[in-house]
Amino acid sequence: MSSNAPKTLRPFPAKQILFAFIAALALFVVYNNERFIVDHGDPQWTYYLPVRWLLLPHGLAGLLVLCLGATQFSTRLRRRHARVHRILGRCYVIGVAIAAPLGIYITALHNALPTRIAVTTQALLWMLTTGMAFYCIRRRNFEQHRHWMIRSYAVTLIFLTDRVLVAIPWFSDLDGDTSPSILFMCNIIAWVVPTFIVAWPSVFGTARPASLEGLPPS
Ligand code: HEM
Repeated sequence: MSSNAPKTLRPFPAKQILFAFIAALALFVVYNNERFIVDHGDPQWTYYLPVRWLLLPHGLAGLLVLCLGATQFSTRLRRRHARVHRILGRCYVIGVAIAAPLGIYITALHNALPTRIAVTTQALLWMLTTGMAFYCIRRRNFEQHRHWMIRSYAVTLIFLTDRVLVAIPWFSDLDGDTSPSILFMCNIIAWVVPTFIVAWPSVFGTARPASLEGLPPS
C-alpha cells in the first residue's frame, strides 16, 4: 500500500557524529595518557606523584565538565527536561570553577614558564567563556548563551586535542615543557573553530540551526 504523505527528511546527524568522534578521542586519551592511574610502574606516575592530591580534584572536576558538556548540547534534553539541563549546567560551571584554578596552581608548581603561560591562558579562557555563558543565561540571552557554551566546550576539549596531537610523532617533536607549541596552537584553534561555528548561519545564510529549535526567537 502506497502512502501519499510527504516524506520528512531526517536531518544529517552532524552533532551525533561529532560527539561519537569526541568519545573516540576520549577513549584514545584514556588508553594513551591516563594508564598511569592504574599502572604505577608507568614513569608518568612518578612524574605526577608530587601533585597527585591537587590533580585528583582537578581531573575529576575536568572529567565531569567533559561529560556534562556533551549532554548540554542535546536539543532533546533541553526541550523535554529543561530543569535537568539547568541543573547539569550549574554542575558544569562549578566543575570549571574547581578545575581551572587548580590547573593554574598545578602548572605554577609543576611546569616550566612557557607551559605555565600556555596552561594559564587555557584556564583563563575556560573561566571567561564559561562565565560569559552563565552570565548570558542569567540575563535570558539564549543565543549568546549557546555561543559562549560552544566556546567554553571547545576550551574543555583542549584536554583531548592537545594529547591526541602530541601523540602524533611529527607533532610530539615540536612539543615540550619548555616549548608547548601544540598547547598554544590548541588554544588558538579552540577560539577560531567556535568563531566559525557561531558565524556560519549568518555568513552562509543557512536556516536557523536545529540545535536552536525549541528556544524562543532571539
Ligand atoms: C582549561 C582547562 C585545563 C587546564 C588549565 C588544565 C591544567 C592541567 C595541568 C597544569 C596539568 C598537569 C600537567 C603537568 O604537570 O605536566 C593537568 C593534568 C591533568 N588534567 Fe587538566 N587541565 C584542564 C582541563 C582538563 C580536563 C577537561 C580534564 C578532564 C578529564 C583534565 C584532566 C587532567 C588529568 C587526568 C591530568 C593528569 C594526566 C594528564 O596530564 O594527562 N584536565 N591539567
